[in-house]
Amino acid sequence: MSTDTQADWAELAPHLVDAARHDRAWYLTVARELVAPGDRLAGDIGCGAAGMSLAIAQMMACGRVVAVDAHPAVLDTARDHLHAEWSDPRVRIEPLHADIPAETAALRETLGAPADLVWASASVHHVGDQQAAVTALAGLLAPGGRLALAEGGLPEHHLPWDVGLGEPGLEVRLHAAQDRWFARMRAELPDSRRMPYGWTEALRQAGLSPVTTRTTLAEQPAPLPDTTRRTVVKTLAGRVGRLRPTGLLTAADLDAWDRLLDPADEAWLGHRDDLFRLSARSVHLGLRP
Ligand SMILES: C[S@@+](CC[C@H](N)C(=O)[O-])C[C@H]1O[C@@H](n2cnc3c(N)ncnc32)[C@H](O)[C@@H]1O
Repeated sequence: MSTDTQADWAELAPHLVDAARHDRAWYLTVARELVAPGDRLAGDIGCGAAGMSLAIAQMMACGRVVAVDAHPAVLDTARDHLHAEWSDPRVRIEPLHADIPAETAALRETLGAPADLVWASASVHHVGDQQAAVTALAGLLAPGGRLALAEGGLPEHHLPWDVGLGEPGLEVRLHAAQDRWFARMRAELPDSRRMPYGWTEALRQAGLSPVTTRTTLAEQPAPLPDTTRRTVVKTLAGRVGRLRPTGLLTAADLDAWDRLLDPADEAWLGHRDDLFRLSARSVHLGLRP
């Protein structure tokens, strides 16, 4: 069972496959830039459904990608996804159960050699001591190896500022509530520590240099195709559902969301042609000298 703040990864595992499919094009674009000719060994840390493991493997001529996750149900999902999507024997993708940073030694052993590339997307922020995790991951790299952290950026927006129900700014307040939930989630993690600086500084403190950030805008303007519109409505319903028991949304906002998310209501978001997707995704990259 999930608590109000801690994710239930078994419950979320199927959604991670949807996310991996949705992000396929972005993963390929990023992997094309990150994987260098001659790379033979990579890690995908907190791999979820292993969407980025697949993209990295596609960019390698031969070698291994180790897809790491701390949660057995998620790793099972990754295994099934890899089984369905990957069969090229020149690059092996190996799922591995490991909790980072506590089980970094087991990961190092499985890698068997220093890595050319380590990727961690939206996973380090689930670790109590984020700097310890970044430092542990940097320690897996060969000289010239790269650690890429997909963290931060800007959350996805979908709705016009005024949707005609409740106070304008409904989605802005949803993001604000999400941000407060995130702060609670972090505070309640085991060994939780604040990291009062940005991801580039975390990479520098892990001994990496130079450190750079690349942010890409992800945009799908209105009107969205039906399948995407349904995905957006599902995403918003999931977010509102998770925030409902936390008390972080007002009763008036919940009333507005209930109508917007009810397919039987004339205000249902699925009827609207003005939904869109707009977000910014950052990848912070550090090089091991
Ligand atoms: C938000 S999901 C991101 C999944 C995927 N990387 C993506 O970007 O779609 C976070 C993932 O990190 C994993 N995770 C959380 N804490 C972890 C830890 N300490 N060590 C390894 N994996 C962890 C979770 O099981 C989950 O699969």
